[in-house]
Amino acid sequence: MFDPKKFVEEMIAELKGSIDGRAIIACSGGVDSTAAAIIADRAIGERLLTVYVDTGFMRKGENEWVDRMLRGLGINFRLIDASDEFFRALRGVVDPEKKRKIIGEKFIRVFERAAKEFGAEYLVQGTIAPDWIESGDNLRDTIKSHHNVGGLPSDMKLKLVEPLRDLYKDEVRKVARYLGIEVSERQPFPGPALAIRVMGEATPEAVEIVRNACAIVEEEIERAAAEGRIERPWQYFAVLLPVHSVGVHGDRRAYGRTIAIRAVDSVDAMSAAYSKIPHDVLERISVRITNEMKDKVNRVVYDITHKPPATIEWE
Ligand code: XMP
Repeated sequence: MFDPKKFVEEMIAELKGSIDGRAIIACSGGVDSTAAAIIADRAIGERLLTVYVDTGFMRKGENEWVDRMLRGLGINFRLIDASDEFFRALRGVVDPEKKRKIIGEKFIRVFERAAKEFGAEYLVQGTIAPDWIESGDNLRDTIKSHHNVGGLPSDMKLKLVEPLRDLYKDEVRKVARYLGIEVSERQPFPGPALAIRVMGEATPEAVEIVRNACAIVEEEIERAAAEGRIERPWQYFAVLLPVHSVGVHGDRRAYGRTIAIRAVDSVDAMSAAYSKIPHDVLERISVRITNEMKDKVNRVVYDITHKPPATIEWE
């Protein structure tokens, strides 16, 4: 039986022994990186700089929320707005693996700059077991390069520390709950963020559409769960497809984009079943998306694929 208290105490002791200089951690505000940041903070205190990078791909309200939460935790924290740099790097890029690699690499470059200023020698990361198992550790084929792993450039100058490397998602949630952090019940969110929920080129405009659609999916599913009408799924979000289709606005022809809704139930993200969301909830989401983004989206579909054969994210 996994004991979060024992795990945290042992990991703090281990990091105290292994990190002999200054360290930097990228915190996205998600469960994994926040738990890793707190554990590292408890081990080395002010010798750790926690950095939050605004890539331009974060969820609605995320920047403000993370800023408030990390400040509240009293850790040494800095927000870096690098969104222009990320959008520029992804210009014209449509291949999912290329997108992931570019984002991963850019992340590290941004950190390297911050790390240099701070004088850090170590990079702490919130990588968990499914991240590296699915990124191919020579035992398995690469399914997709999770950004914490596949995007690491081979010339990275910082020494890597991964306190959660052997944990699965359910264990990380136990750790987060034990640490008493606000994020402990949040749904997982991928490192490359909304950039991989835009199929094709992640332009600022496309990311804004998927950001709004994701917010609507979250609000409506969380409302239904709070009212006891559904069990909150493991993960639920929107994906912007590169498909345009014909629609009608009043008496005028429209030609708009398509949003796919994805909701899955899972234990450890290694496999997942699509959630049987009731039609009235799906309908509300569809009506809101097409009303609130009238000029942009005129079709909404629901993804009914399990993992395998699909993965949870579309890229
Ligand atoms: P897939 O799409 O591979 O996702 O079935 C499994 C779980 O991992 C999340 N995910 C990521 N998490 N970095 C992460 O930290 C990533 O690059 C990444 N890609 C996917 C995904 O949201 C799901 O919970």
